[in-house]
Amino acid sequence: MCGITGYIGKRDATPILIEGLKKLEYRGYDSAGIALLKKGKMTVCKKKGRVDVLAGLMRKNPFKANLGISHTRWATHGGVTDENAHPHVSSDGMFALVHNGIIENYENMKRFLVKKGYTFSSQTDSEALVNLIAYHYQYRTSDKDENRFLEAVRKALIHVEGTYGIAVLCKDKPDELVAARKGSPLLIGIGKDERLVSSDVLGFAGRANNVIYLEDGQVASITKDNCDIISIGNTPVEYTIKEIDWQLENADLNGAKHFMQKEIFEQPKAIENAIRGRISEDQATAILQGLNMTPNDMRQIDRIIFCACGTAWHACLVAEQLIERYARIPVEVEYASEFRYRNIPIEKNTLVFVISQSGETIDTLEALRESKRKGFKTLAITNAIASTISRESDGGLYQYAGKEVGVASTKAFTSQVAICLLIALYIGRMRDMSYSVGKDIINALKSLPETIEKTLKTAPQIKKIAKKYACKNDFLFLGRLDEFPIALEGALKLKEISYIHAEAYPAGEMKHGPIALICPECPSVVFACAEDVLAKIVSNAQEIKARKGAVIAITCFPEAFKDIADDIITVPKVHDSIRTIIDTVPAQLLAYYIALERGCDVDKPRNLAKAVTVE
Ligand code: G6P
Repeated sequence: MCGITGYIGKRDATPILIEGLKKLEYRGYDSAGIALLKKGKMTVCKKKGRVDVLAGLMRKNPFKANLGISHTRWATHGGVTDENAHPHVSSDGMFALVHNGIIENYENMKRFLVKKGYTFSSQTDSEALVNLIAYHYQYRTSDKDENRFLEAVRKALIHVEGTYGIAVLCKDKPDELVAARKGSPLLIGIGKDERLVSSDVLGFAGRANNVIYLEDGQVASITKDNCDIISIGNTPVEYTIKEIDWQLENADLNGAKHFMQKEIFEQPKAIENAIRGRISEDQATAILQGLNMTPNDMRQIDRIIFCACGTAWHACLVAEQLIERYARIPVEVEYASEFRYRNIPIEKNTLVFVISQSGETIDTLEALRESKRKGFKTLAITNAIASTISRESDGGLYQYAGKEVGVASTKAFTSQVAICLLIALYIGRMRDMSYSVGKDIINALKSLPETIEKTLKTAPQIKKIAKKYACKNDFLFLGRLDEFPIALEGALKLKEISYIHAEAYPAGEMKHGPIALICPECPSVVFACAEDVLAKIVSNAQEIKARKGAVIAITCFPEAFKDIADDIITVPKVHDSIRTIIDTVPAQLLAYYIALERGCDVDKPRNLAKAVTVE
């Protein structure tokens, strides 16, 4: 959510900043801007639209400097206009700032600053902060302060309520960049005679192999060959430098048309990575050392709460069914954004699990913090190494799915589900799961990469089906048992990237209301791989047909639908424990091809951002 890059070094900053912004564009793409500083001259260029628009402007009006900051925006306060684009400059012209996050008390700040003579040209909360920094520089610090720039930023931030990841330039300080974070990720990349700032390692575009992860409440003064970090409370901070694993951070299209397409087809590999080294064939169980829990600790658990947002929340719903089915522990699933404020009673011996691809979603992070505050053991499943959620949880499992750039999550989801199955296996085998059931699940997991490959072969057929239905404006998605969360995920994918209204229901619920929507203009996608309830879901499909609704069946029992469904997507028949993963693949492909048919920008759907770091 909003991408930030900063550069200080010996090279021309503009191409480095632009390249970084392009890599971060999945975080927001409403507008983009850049501020450069050279010998006391500051220049700012910002524009509504994509990073390419900004790049074009910079080519027309080049300004060579070795210091700069830049931003790609996902609008929160203030519409999508040139004025609201970042960087924002203080009205005295001294500071330029890029900001990711929300300043909740900006109106009070603004009132105070207006009285002091500062003026405003945007509707953003960020402009209040840059002016507050200017105010502190002018009135609350003096020439004699050795670190006057850093001090002005630190003192201003003391007054901020809300979240921020910021990078700031000061006209008086042509050799320094200041960065700070609270609630929005910010990283400092270390190169040779240069330092970079970014909200994600991707923004370094391969230019730095070592990184410092700023923690909440830290402010950094960065020069081309040094970095000093202090806390907002003004105590020096000792930091560690971590190495980036660029293999996992690879974000190239590698010949694919879209990241979403590439990532759908990467699922066999992502699943392989998720299960690698985590299976004990001998013991018919999973090896999950990252959980940092002894088998004894694990046996004490009476209840598990899963928390997440968006697609990761759907993975939690699948986890609920897998863990209850195989490990016989009650599971509850909470929206992270609700959990934090609901103050639900949590019993002793409850484990809290959060799932987050990015590891930065603020709602999920705050749910994790709330659980920790209450003294609960918290575990996380994340795809982003060293992300805030993974650092703050007591233990967890990395997905190793490789970078996911497409805004609509695909490979991260199926990899989360595979990890949840490993957890169900692990806990189940500590309780009353037999060796042979454990073995069956392991064999199913091992077969997944190959079975997904086979399922991906449905792509050409799905492309044709997509052509037929791309003109529809309403869809129903139906499933029973653990196929209901997949119906939710299928509907979400379609909404996200094709802007078609889609709703998902447990198939048995359809007759209690949604059936009123059924008509020739509203097709239904029916997931039907659960043999136990096959007859029931076939009846539901018949109810649709009887009302002239089109049925697209995703099933491993094509015979059962031959006289009912308008289109049948046949998927391989697999062990019950993995059917949700297999079901997901055609649902993703259907959304992808329908979006293409409708001419939508699948990797950058309107209004969405990949990592949402505001509440
Ligand atoms: C955003 C994205 C969704 C994603 C959700 C949770 O809303 O657009 O695709 O599922 O955040 O993201 P996380 O990184 O926490 O899994």
